[in-house]
Amino acid sequence: MINKDKIERINFLARKKKAEGLTAEELEEQQSLRAEYLEAVRANLKSQLDSIEIMSPDYEESYTEEDKTHIAEMNEKLAVEYEDAKRKERMSITEAGNPRKPQGEAGKMMIERMNESHAEMTAWALDKLDLKPTDKVLDVGCGGGAALKRLSGRIDGGKLYGIDYSEVSVEASKELNKADIESGKMEIHQGSVSKMPFEDNQFDAIITVESYYFWPDLEEDMREVFRVLKEGGTFMLIAEMYLNDDLDEHHIEMARKFELRNLTVDEFKALFEKTGYKETKIHLKDGKYWICVEGKK
Ligand SMILES: C[S@@+](CC[C@H](N)C(=O)[O-])C[C@H]1O[C@@H](n2cnc3c(N)ncnc32)[C@H](O)[C@@H]1O
Repeated sequence: MINKDKIERINFLARKKKAEGLTAEELEEQQSLRAEYLEAVRANLKSQLDSIEIMSPDYEESYTEEDKTHIAEMNEKLAVEYEDAKRKERMSITEAGNPRKPQGEAGKMMIERMNESHAEMTAWALDKLDLKPTDKVLDVGCGGGAALKRLSGRIDGGKLYGIDYSEVSVEASKELNKADIESGKMEIHQGSVSKMPFEDNQFDAIITVESYYFWPDLEEDMREVFRVLKEGGTFMLIAEMYLNDDLDEHHIEMARKFELRNLTVDEFKALFEKTGYKETKIHLKDGKYWICVEGKK
């Protein structure tokens, strides 16, 4: 049961983390309190939704015009409140789970949610990736492993690799792709993009989804990806947003809150050229801020 004392303790730990950092025990306590808090938010949201009575359209004929206007206004208000509550819930899971390096129970929950929330964008981008069934493909910052699972259907005779420096992400990717790992079709490694445990010129294709925001030294890390890519191979960088004049408040807030790197289209082009890619193609999705940058070595 989350009570006032626990909320105060959560706030105290958050302030202390900012000011001077937390001990290992305090970090563990913080994660467990946050997980408990998120459960309580969920339960609360669910009970609010369960108590909403949906009016049957059969009665509509007996409504006065005034009733109808009132119902329409209430529905609109509820829809806005519901979307807002969902966004807040997503934000608090992301915050507790730490997208930079997923950790603890909240990290597991966040990664599970990302597997779903990134699915449409990942499918949109990966459909553009030219692959042969016998290709060797690497996913950098593989998170919960959903992109690898998606690619598995296109690989036959080739092999898939994932790498992520978060233990929680590696475990989640392994769990989701158990059968492919057992059959030898996939390997998941724990390690940083900055120093990958792969020989030069290994992969026909390398992808990264929603991860470059956090890489410690972008130019150096791009060179490390380039090193392990085969001559003629493709590197595909996929991100939910890029910096542009139309970016909405929500994305600006996300970038600020999670200290996300955010490049413009021109900066992406320059970065890929500087890394050594011979050809760079940029795909943008209409009505979204999605970007998919393809570089050919
Ligand atoms: C926002 S999650 C995205 C996960 C997944 N690609 C997806 O689309 O759902 C970012 C992932 O990148 C990983 N990551 C961030 N920096 C990394 C680095 N320097 N080396 C390896 N992985 C990194 C994080 O651990 C995390 O799993």
